[in-house]
Amino acid sequence: MTNPISQVEYLWQLAMDPARPHERPTAFDRMLTPLHRWIWSDADRRVQKLFRFGETESDGGRDILRAAEVTSDPLLRRLYLEHAIDEFRHGVLFRHRAAELLKSSRSNPGFQGDWLAPGGHGLDDLQVDGESDVDMLAFLHLSEKAAASRFTVYRDVMQHDPPTRAIFQEILHDETFHMNYTLTQLARVEPKRHRYHLWRARLSRLWKTYLRLASGIAGILGSLFLTIQYFVLLAPFAWLAKRAARREQLGWTLASAGPSDSLDRQY
Ligand SMILES: [Fe+2]
Ligand SMILES: [Fe+2]
Repeated sequence: MTNPISQVEYLWQLAMDPARPHERPTAFDRMLTPLHRWIWSDADRRVQKLFRFGETESDGGRDILRAAEVTSDPLLRRLYLEHAIDEFRHGVLFRHRAAELLKSSRSNPGFQGDWLAPGGHGLDDLQVDGESDVDMLAFLHLSEKAAASRFTVYRDVMQHDPPTRAIFQEILHDETFHMNYTLTQLARVEPKRHRYHLWRARLSRLWKTYLRLASGIAGILGSLFLTIQYFVLLAPFAWLAKRAARREQLGWTLASAGPSDSLDRQY
């Protein structure tokens, strides 16, 4: 197995071995299944989300391409290139499907729930330059695992739209490979401390998830408080303004004599 291409093919077969456990949705994603079903049930919302997923996948592909440029490990470079090609293809699949749906769509998607149903990987958080191979692999593994978990749920709630469901099924197959090869390579590159790096990456993702949820909740609370303020404070202000207007004298009034009499200056 000296040829790097055959190495990649070998790793693909290894990663997709049916004996290996495939990713199942996390308890959190499973718990949110009814919400995901509702989010994806609206055709307009589906269009917007698929377009955004397409962007996320293509952006992720660009970052992984950059990772292929900066790594000094020849096998990782090959795998990253395969990975980047997959992500670009996912982007195209999502965008084409969104364009098909757009033809029969209205224009107001309303609530998107992006902070609850984000675009797959979380690869948008990826910072390639300055990352070691180990940190990159740990980050990629967790991102792909999260993508596989979410895409499993999205595929399962998409019974009403078989073509979109088929796309999620196809992409899920690739994400499972990405999830498996990144873990295998992490264990190869850092056999003793790969679990430590996984936990570090997990904590970092947890923090980013918290920030995403917090900003989503802050957005909802902000809208709520502004609406309450509008209805509670506007009426008293309108009443005070009307009362002040009633006290104003109509027409021209004489100004009292004082220090502002000069015509040469304002005050
Ligand atoms: Fe992908
Ligand atoms: Fe992926």
